[in-house]
Amino acid sequence: MANLQPLSDLDAQFYQPADAFFPAQGSTALTYDDVTLATLYSEILPRDTHLETQLAPALRLNIPILSADMDTVTESRMAIAMALNGGLGVIHYNMPERQQLSEVSRVKNHVHGLIQDPIKVSPEQQIGDILRVIEERRFAFSTFPVVDASGRLVGLLSSHVVKPRYARRKIAEALTPRAQVHTLRQEELGDDPIARADRFFTDHPGIHKLLVVDAEDHLRGLFTMSDIERITQEREAQFRPARDARFHLMCGAAVSATRNAFGELDRDRILAHVGDLVGRGVDLVAVSTAHGFSRGVGDAVRMIRQAFPELPILAGNVTSAAGVEYLAHCGANVVKVGQGPGSICTTRIVAGVGIPQLTALYVGSRAATATGVTIVADGGIAKSGDMVKALTLSQAVMCGGIFAGCLEAPGEVIEIDGKLYKHYRGMGSLAAMRAGAAARYGHTRDTSRKVAAEGVEALKESSGSVDDVLTQLIGGIQSGMGYLGAANLGELREAARYIRVTEAGRREAAPHDIVEIRASGGPPRNG
Ligand code: XMP
Repeated sequence: MANLQPLSDLDAQFYQPADAFFPAQGSTALTYDDVTLATLYSEILPRDTHLETQLAPALRLNIPILSADMDTVTESRMAIAMALNGGLGVIHYNMPERQQLSEVSRVKNHVHGLIQDPIKVSPEQQIGDILRVIEERRFAFSTFPVVDASGRLVGLLSSHVVKPRYARRKIAEALTPRAQVHTLRQEELGDDPIARADRFFTDHPGIHKLLVVDAEDHLRGLFTMSDIERITQEREAQFRPARDARFHLMCGAAVSATRNAFGELDRDRILAHVGDLVGRGVDLVAVSTAHGFSRGVGDAVRMIRQAFPELPILAGNVTSAAGVEYLAHCGANVVKVGQGPGSICTTRIVAGVGIPQLTALYVGSRAATATGVTIVADGGIAKSGDMVKALTLSQAVMCGGIFAGCLEAPGEVIEIDGKLYKHYRGMGSLAAMRAGAAARYGHTRDTSRKVAAEGVEALKESSGSVDDVLTQLIGGIQSGMGYLGAANLGELREAARYIRVTEAGRREAAPHDIVEIRASGGPPRNG
């Protein structure tokens, strides 16, 4: 419970809780810059606040931030960076299904404690075979344990010999023999395998791989020094990486509600692909469309829920209580709220629909509580203050533009007049729809038909690494929580008191009447 001091009667007339404030706005829809939050008595320092969020029974994140399933925002590099910071990347689906599976695998295999099922090779294979596998499966490593047909360790194939010049050699001729390979027996790992492996690497300078075997010398796992070092550091970090029960980084993936030649949901294809994603260890699937309160999205969610009862499902997008209830009843755990707030969105201009984000979040949040689901505030977030306001009504935020300029976003950095940029495009832009996202906007991929685009193609100023951007954003969220005396996100939702601001209030809120010589450290503002 938040340490809430009652507001004075006078304060209470102006600074109202959500259930008094939003209904009192009558028929006016509000967004982030239309309101501000009142400061409250606090005993909480920003650095002591906790940002964990439970999005679904099987999905807990350490920070409430997701990167959007957009083809200029989230592929494996972005998802790895998000998960390492405690959040979640949702990999877009504008790519062949096989490629999406391999993107998910790259995230899930990124760092392990004990890799329980390491990639093994056999003494009979040639080094050229291994080089091909590395290329095909995009492995970032090239040292492999060598095992015989019964799984017994016979040696280690070191990266020094996995080279094209040795392609025709058999592994048996090139391996480091068993007697020279460092191993631990399973029972030697004890209660804290990471600490045991850490000690081993300290005691054996120059050795970077440690294999684990059972009593019959069958290979049972592999530690790498870089994984152990990273994990040991993470134990001290305030925001731990988002990991699953097997210590793999968490990763989400969007699936398309594809239709067959008869216009029906392509049940077999969708279920087969979701099954493959689950096989790769995906932690959440997103059925992401512009209009989530629709039969097609509901049917897709119902079908996935039936086939995968435990899988966290994120569905959207909606902006009404009825929309949240509908998707909750179809089986979604998390509902995305947002139609048209995005920095590259033109839905409100093109279709004339969509609701400014704070009002949509208020309405959605009340329906979510009633139906036992959570909501994610999707789109329109340009600064950390917007995140704080969004998190007073939602369990997490999803951002595209804020991350699109990062090094980890897909695409190259381009230079124009000495400034660095990256491409950022709406998934409803013509280019993204041609590349496969048309289903999301209710169109077919057939570009010979004219369709109305609901997004633009743009540039974002290059903004450094995801780590840097998240550091600023998280600092801002923690600062907001400190002002409201909220130790965690539940308390933030409980404590928030709102008041509207005028255009003059907005001007007052930004730097004014000065000549700014250095921008504040935050990420660049969305256009
Ligand atoms: P931000 O503001 O973070 O918004 O850049 C990202 C979110 O915008 C949505 N999105 C679109 N909405 N037309 C739209 O109306 C589009 O082309 C489009 N592309 C993405 C999406 O919800 C994303 O997470």
